[in-house]
Amino acid sequence: MHRLTRNIYFTGFMGAGKSRVGEATAKSLGWRFVDTDRFVEERAGKTIPEIFAQDGEAEFRRMEREAIEELSTRSYHVIALGGGALTQPTVAETIKRTGILVRLNASVDVLSERIGRKDNRPLMAGLDDERRKAKIRKMLAEREKFYALADFAVESSEELTVDDLVAKIRAIAAPWEYKRLEVSTPSARYPIFVGSNFLDLTGAVLAGLGLDRHDVVAVTDDNLAKAQAHNLRKLGAALGKAELFRFQPGEQRKTLASLDELYTFLLRRGYTRKTVLVQFSGGVVGDMAGFCAATYQRGIPFVQVPTTLLAMVDSSVGGKVAVNHPLGKNMIGAFYQPRAVLINLEVLHTLPPQEYLAGLAEVVKYGVIRDEEFFAFLEGHVREILNHDDAILARIVERCCAIKAEVVGLDEKEQGLRAILNYGHTFGHAIEKLTGYSTYSHGIAVALGMRAAARLATSLGLWDEACEKRQNALLDAFGFPSRVRVDAGAAWEAMSVDKKAENGKCVFVLPERIGSVRKVSGLDRAAVDRAWEALEGK
Ligand SMILES: NC(=O)c1ccc[n+]([C@@H]2O[C@H](COP(=O)([O-])OP(=O)(O)OC[C@H]3O[C@@H](n4cnc5c(N)ncnc54)[C@H](O)[C@@H]3O)[C@@H](O)[C@H]2O)c1
Repeated sequence: MHRLTRNIYFTGFMGAGKSRVGEATAKSLGWRFVDTDRFVEERAGKTIPEIFAQDGEAEFRRMEREAIEELSTRSYHVIALGGGALTQPTVAETIKRTGILVRLNASVDVLSERIGRKDNRPLMAGLDDERRKAKIRKMLAEREKFYALADFAVESSEELTVDDLVAKIRAIAAPWEYKRLEVSTPSARYPIFVGSNFLDLTGAVLAGLGLDRHDVVAVTDDNLAKAQAHNLRKLGAALGKAELFRFQPGEQRKTLASLDELYTFLLRRGYTRKTVLVQFSGGVVGDMAGFCAATYQRGIPFVQVPTTLLAMVDSSVGGKVAVNHPLGKNMIGAFYQPRAVLINLEVLHTLPPQEYLAGLAEVVKYGVIRDEEFFAFLEGHVREILNHDDAILARIVERCCAIKAEVVGLDEKEQGLRAILNYGHTFGHAIEKLTGYSTYSHGIAVALGMRAAARLATSLGLWDEACEKRQNALLDAFGFPSRVRVDAGAAWEAMSVDKKAENGKCVFVLPERIGSVRKVSGLDRAAVDRAWEALEGK
């Protein structure tokens, strides 16, 4: 896979060591180094104190922004940003699009001492040590939200030589070259990495997240322990002395009783709040491990390493975690975002074909609900997709995650928009429930559910029959079943207690065209029964 990263940017407060460490990093990589303050001074033909005095801070910020925009078009540069650069609109966006953003931290004492040694900082001019420290604290607090945008942070006041610091930064930065997206919700911001063969960098991801001093428990299931033994060993080596917990596989095991085994494992071994759960499996274990992370000692960090296509494009992103209850699927759960999602495509090679197909149902779903161009891309690449073409898969996984990240970013707790992700799921959940969660996997049930929802939409005149045919033709091309027989009365009841029901009324997400859906409620049962009948082939 090609690497998108072209530059490394350093941010942090003045005196944090951005120029010194940035220059050393550039040297060790054989890249060019640029300090935006020096760049601006050269362009302006005057020093920064002179620019501040003659033109004012606003003009300096404008020049700084222009400099960053220009530098961001270059490749293989290490760029030290001025301490206030990120406070400007659009600058952070430009930077995150074109490289890795590293934050250098230092204590207030160290910063003040370093700043005091020079008199080239207009914002600190004429201040004694005490007033300088007070101003540093105030400015750090004001800028925290901007510095927090960094991909990862490194402490520069530790007793490390510059060379040690550079080695540390390079080791942590390695997986960030696989970062493709960022999910940003009101409660969290986290990266999604997509690529092949970078499981060995999982430890570096934890270090970048500041979790390297935590205990680690890897959670998987018995199938993965066999089929992916080699990758589990790789993951174990990357995580250091992580213990492994194995669930028995299967949707039927997605219960509070199974979860209790994990709680007991953690408690018996004395795991505290300073423990990270790293889940290496599909959506079933992912949902369980995530719910455990949300609730164990009121919440511990959680990292998703999905191993099914469904988990890669759907369940590992967005923070819905849950277990099933005998009275309904995913009824006991939480919204709890992971700290990172690491998608290693090579693990799909051992995924049973039926499970791969199940993931494709969610992939088709994204096209129907949000992106006609993506839907057309799928139509044009059926053969490559069925042949597990990694390059095509990487694009698909990235696009699906981007759609999910966008939707979840706008509506984290499913107050409105997020419901569109449930397209096909109201029918699908009823199918799963009525067939005892064993005949059809979640993905296959969703594909059948999309056919039923499409039929309902056509019968209500919401979209053209041609759209229904187009959706179903793609499902056929992938080899999804098209027939299922359910008891329509029992299905209606199941749909009414589905947690997406509102005041006991079923809520359906129905398509208006390929690329757009809307919520419809209060439908007549007869119309829904007819959609079920169509699936029976009546
Ligand atoms: N949280 C969410 O937002 C969300 C979204 C969609 C689905 N889900 C949930 O996800 C679950 C379904 O997840 P799933 O489809 O990943 O099923 P799964 O987790 O049961 O995995 C499918 C099967 O494949 C095996 N497996 C997984 N990866 C493998 C690999 N690389 N090689 C060999 N075998 C492998 C598993 O052991 C299992 O037997 C459902 O419980 C559903 O409710 C959650």
